[in-house]
This record gives sequence, C-alpha cells and structure tokens, in this order.
Amino acid sequence: MNLSRTDFPPDFTFGVATSSYQIEGATQEDGRGQSIWDTFCHQPGRIRDGTTGEVACDHYHRWESDLDLIAGLGVDAYRFSLAWPRIQPLGVGAVNEKGLDFYECLVDGLLARGIRPYATLYHWDLPQALQDQGGWVNRDTAERFAEYAALVGTRLGDRLTSLATLNEPWCSSLLSYHLGAHAPGLKDRRLALAAAHHLLLGHGLALRTLRASGVQVPLGIVLNLNPTYAATEDPADQARALADDGYSNRWFLDPLLRGEYPADMWKLYGQDVPEIRPGDLELIREPLDFLGVNYYTRTVSTASGPVMPEEAEVTHMDWEVYPQGLSDLLVRLKREYPLPPLLIAENGAAYLDERTADGQVHDLERTRYLQTHLNAVAQAIQAGVDVRGYFVWSLLDNFEWAYGYSRRFGLFYTDYATQERLWKDSARWYRHFLNAPGNATPSPTPELETLSEKGDSR
Ligand code: FCB
Repeated sequence: MNLSRTDFPPDFTFGVATSSYQIEGATQEDGRGQSIWDTFCHQPGRIRDGTTGEVACDHYHRWESDLDLIAGLGVDAYRFSLAWPRIQPLGVGAVNEKGLDFYECLVDGLLARGIRPYATLYHWDLPQALQDQGGWVNRDTAERFAEYAALVGTRLGDRLTSLATLNEPWCSSLLSYHLGAHAPGLKDRRLALAAAHHLLLGHGLALRTLRASGVQVPLGIVLNLNPTYAATEDPADQARALADDGYSNRWFLDPLLRGEYPADMWKLYGQDVPEIRPGDLELIREPLDFLGVNYYTRTVSTASGPVMPEEAEVTHMDWEVYPQGLSDLLVRLKREYPLPPLLIAENGAAYLDERTADGQVHDLERTRYLQTHLNAVAQAIQAGVDVRGYFVWSLLDNFEWAYGYSRRFGLFYTDYATQERLWKDSARWYRHFLNAPGNATPSPTPELETLSEKGDSR
C-alpha cells in the first residue's frame, strides 16, 4: 500500500490520543477526589488482572517527557482528557486549583512544543461523590457537568484547539449501566437509558454554557461507532443488524444530529425509555462544530447474536480487523445525517507486543492496521466526506479499563516496572509517514526494518 501524507488534504490534522484515568496515576495527589473508576477497580472481579489506575503510566509526574515523545513523533496534535475529580473533587462547587494548574501546564507544554491541544472533558472518570447521588441516572449530573465544563472553558479556552464534551457516551451509559462491564457496573437497561439521556443533556447544556461564556474553541462530542452488518440476507438477521445499529449507533447519532430518538428503538425499549422533558431534544441537538468518531471494528449480526466471520483477522481484543467498516461508516454518516466536520478521534489496535532479543517491539500488525485504516479514511475523503483529522489510539500502552494492563494499544511500549517508554516499530512508522521527505510511505513489510533506525532505543 503506497499511502502517504500527501493523500490527505494539506491542513489535515494527525495526532495521538490518551485519556486521564488510563495514563495519569497519582489518584490521591494534589487534592484529586475519588472517581468511579477508583471505586470500581477495588471491587473484586471487575478488572481482569486485578489492577487499578493508581499508578498507570505515572503520566502525572512524567508529563513533560511524555510531551517530548509526542513531539518526537512529529504529530500536529494531542488528544487528552481532563479528570473531573482533579478539578472538582466532589463534582460540584469548590475548585481544586492544583488540578486546573496541572492541565494548564500540560496545555502550555504542548503549545511550547508546537503541538495543538485537543481536550475532552469527560472520558469516564466521574467524581464518586456524584455517583453516590445516582451518577448519570440522576438528571442533576447534567447540570453539574455543564458547570465543570464552564470552569475548564474559561480557564483554558483561549489556548485549546478543540474541546469535546463527552468521550463515547455509549460506553458511559449502556456498557456501564446495562452491560455492567464498566464503572459503576450495573445491569439495568432502564437506568442505562436514563444515564444516556442525561449524558446527552449534559453535553447540550455544556455547549450552551460554554458558548454563553464566550468560549471560542470549536466544540463537539466523540462517539464510538460500530457499523453493523447482517450476516446473511435472512430477514431475521437483517432485523437484528438494524437493532444492533440502533443500540450502538443511532441511539446517539439521531438525537444529536436530528433531535429525535430512533422510533424503532423507542418502541423496542418499551417501559425502559427515558423521561424526556420539554426542551431536552433541542438542547441535545445544539449545533456541533465537529463530531469525533472512534472506530475499532464492526459487528456482524445474526438473529441469535453477533458472529465472527470465518477467517476474520482479529486483534488481541478479539475485535475483527475490518478497515472497510471505517470507510463504509463515514460514507453512511454523510449520506444519512446533517453533519459537521468529522474527526477520527480514536483508531488503533491491541496486539500481544513483546520485547524481542534485540530489546525492540516489532509490531508489524499494528503498523498494517494503521495503514489500512488511514487508507479507509483517505477513501472516504475522496468520496466527499469532510474528515479533518485522525488520532491514533494510543500514544502509549496504558490501563485498558476492565482489561487492566493486559492489552497494549500504544505506539510506545510501556515497561510498567520501570515506567520506561520504548519506541515500537509502529511509532517509527508513524513518524516516518508524517515526516518523510516527499512523504512516500514504503510498504509495511521487511523494509520496515531499515526504517526503524536500528539502535535507536528511545
Ligand atoms: C475506546 C476508549 C479508549 C480505549 C479504546 C481501546 O472505547 O475510548 O479509552 O479504551 O477504546
């Protein structure tokens, strides 16, 4: 595949992404309050390897050298999230200045290195004190979120390039309150749908509050979208694919972009649907300056549940590698919705990375994954979809939620015993892709070896 940076528009933004709880550690320092993930990690059986984010990548102490790594990649931008409990330890009222100071230093450090800051306000680490009041099931949490958004916006808005309200509200509602896999670990569809509605309300309220306070940064939201395909032509499989699409994708896309919940899903959910008050849907449809799309894989649906296609190539998450799903998704979004500009806010893959005898990590599969998915983005742009940026998930191996440290998504390998960061071959490939003279990208096969600057063990 002969993809190069010149296949993208000249002002296209390339970056890397992380989130606060997954990398920061220092969960009890400088006045940070407890988050729902601190609580969840301490409940037996929740995290596969029994770990927590207490130390994670120790980024809270190592942020300067981490910013140097980002600068070394030659990316344009860095997407990170702010931990609400560092800024408002109880989720309401008093501000912890040290928390805001931390993010201010981070933003200034990025700007000093010529890297544009793309911030996300909420990547799942809700203050535990708000969970004690019901978390997102409690409508008041939406108001609290808008207040927190305004605090961040007024302090950092003059220096951010982009500000997203929520990361993946599907995960912080359905995965967390219905499927029970993420904090707070509940299994109740009615509560999950209330949580989803209040997350979307919080998003809309935050946009209004930020705009009313004069914050000029482009504002948006980030969704994880998981295109669904029926396994066969069988109407029962087709119907299930439509319902799976409703559950994962349309339940969020439709209210945000059209101001309504999908009628078929509303009917399907029966008594479990959320209470909607007058004005809610107008708030949720508040105009977006951008929509962030996170893409990892697709779902193939049958009447009896999802299936893995025969001979599918899978990652260490057991997620199918299916780049075509990304171009299909982007083209479909353009066809079916009134859209703001899009960003691919996350894309990447976990593999069983190991240091080989030469001390390096030869993660050829990750490089291939990134190349094929970048190619899918380039195809969608050619097909007329307005995509403005692409962020690799993730900068470095980190705390992968319910999988703990057992899944590695990084361009940099994290040695958790020493906190050393090591360039994987994929990081070198990305740097080359972004910075090569003339920007020709060689094929991802053996030549990668010559590219990888043997002996460069940064
Ligand atoms: C996304 C999350 C991110 C990371 C990747 C693998 O759903 O936004 O934090 O866990 O998946």
